[in-house]
This record gives sequence, C-alpha cells and structure tokens, in this order.
Amino acid sequence: MKTVRTAKELREAVGAVKADGRSVGFVPTMGALHAGHVSLIERARADNDVVVVSVFVNPTQFNNPDDLRTYPRTEEADSEKLQAAGVDIAFFPSVEEIYPEPDTRVFELGPVAEVMEGAMRPGHFNGVAQVVSRLFRMVQPDRAYFGEKDFQQISVIRRMVEIEGFDIEIVACPIKREADGLALSSRNVRLTPGQRAVAPAIHRILAESVDGASGRSVDEVKRAVTDAINAVDGMEVEYYEIVNPADMQPIAEWSEAEGGAVGCVTVYMGDVRLIDNIKYPA
Ligand code: PAJ
Repeated sequence: MKTVRTAKELREAVGAVKADGRSVGFVPTMGALHAGHVSLIERARADNDVVVVSVFVNPTQFNNPDDLRTYPRTEEADSEKLQAAGVDIAFFPSVEEIYPEPDTRVFELGPVAEVMEGAMRPGHFNGVAQVVSRLFRMVQPDRAYFGEKDFQQISVIRRMVEIEGFDIEIVACPIKREADGLALSSRNVRLTPGQRAVAPAIHRILAESVDGASGRSVDEVKRAVTDAINAVDGMEVEYYEIVNPADMQPIAEWSEAEGGAVGCVTVYMGDVRLIDNIKYPA
C-alpha cells in the first residue's frame, strides 16, 4: 500500500495507474474505520484494478463544533486496516491540503438536501458536496463507493455529480451491521456499555415495523416506530421519516414510492447521534 499526504503525490500515484489504462475505485471516509468501511473497500476491489481510500475528517460538513472536536481520530489503526483490506493507495491529507483557501461554493442541491439531515444539520450536505467534489477532482476515479447507512448522502452525491458533470459511477453499498443488528458507525465507540447494550433496539424496531406495515398507513407506522424507540431507556428520536428514495421526499401514501419506501431515523443516546434506515418493499 502506498500512503500519500499531498494532492501532488496522489496525482502522481493515480496518474501512473491511469496511464496504464487501469480502472480506479475510490472510497472516501472520515477514518475511525470499521467493517462497514471495509465492506465498501471489498466491493471497490472486486470492481476495479486499483483502490484508493481517503481518510479526512472534513471540517466543512460539521455544523456542530463539539461533534468535530470529539470525532474519533485513529490514523495508525486506520492505516493497518487499509493495508489488511488490500488498499493500493491511502490518502491522508491535512486540512490545508484539501482547502488551501476557504471553500465558499454553495451547491444547488435542491429538494434531496432539504429534508431530514439537510433540515437538522444546516450546511452539512453543502460541506459534503464541497469535500467530495474536491476529492473526486484529485483522485479522478472511475467509480466511487458510498454506504446506504447514510442513505440521503448518496442522493446528494449523485446530485453533486450531476452539477459538476463528473463522469464517475456512484455505487451504493448495503448497510453492514453488528451481529445484534446495530449499524456499524464510527460514533458507536462513544456509547457507554449500557447505551451499547440497548442500541440494537433501533434496528429491531425498524425491522419489526416492516413486518407490521401491511394494512397500516404511513402515518401509523411512523408514529409506532417513533413511540417504540422513544420508549427505550435513554433514546430520543430526532426524526423518523418514510421517504420515496427516488427524491427523498416524505410520502403520505405507500403507493407514492413505486419501488418501495425507505424509513430513515435519527436517534440521540445522550449526546451521541445515531442514524439508521430500513426498506419497506413495494
Ligand atoms: P464516513 O462516515 O467515514 O463514511 C464513509 C463511508 O462509509 C460512507 O459512504 C458511509 O455511508 C459508509 N458507511 C459507514 N458506516 C457504514 C455501514 N455500517 N455499512 C456500510 N457503509 C457504511 O460519510 C462520510 O464518512 C463522509 O460524509 C464522506 C463521504 C467521507 C465525506 O466527508
């Protein structure tokens, strides 16, 4: 594995690959790597000749300074995981390397970025679009890999790709879970043992709601899920929305989401913010 820290080193390493006509798969991350990230890397390895992974905690997507400050930074362990996963090029840039001067671009991301995470975290998706567009220019991948754990983020990335005119295939990968159902997340390490023990209730309640959805309205399901999660000790739902994945807009009737709907939840456990989602088949 080649480790690079500057855009120049990265361009040289990727340039050599491209000159040989080999394909490049790219997995952007913020580090604190876990098996969810590794699952994206494995998919990228299967599809491409060379895999590039970036590890960069992007300041512009954090609307909460405390969240940026407490975000786990584990570069040495990350580097070992990338090596073990068979990554070819690991990119660990500094903030100055990505943002030599402040990025003031405002992306017209439209409705997909206005609901849910977009409404709760003002500026978050604009920051994601800023960093991913910069990384795409530096890496110039053929394909880029994103997890469905951050379901809305994938729509935002597709919209950014459209705006910027990138010729990059965006590949969505399934959520990787712990054996007990909890979606893997870099933030899970911040849960106390007590919080960690009850955290799988989020996925259990979502999964049960799929089984119980037939014969119930969207509103009934939304209310039942919200009440059930709020009834778990130490959990507070920030939002539960059932959306049409085609445009991320909340639906009132199941029939509005032709290919099936997706329920997206954000839950606070203390100051740890967990997100998850589930598919309601058509
Ligand atoms: P990060 O949270 O590190 O996630 C990097 C990628 O891993 C994202 O595409 C995310 O959806 C995926 N991922 C995280 N947990 C996963 C899980 N349990 N199963 C499958 N995939 C999972 O998302 C970001 O970083 C940033 O916003 C980024 C895109 C890197 C821009 O800064």
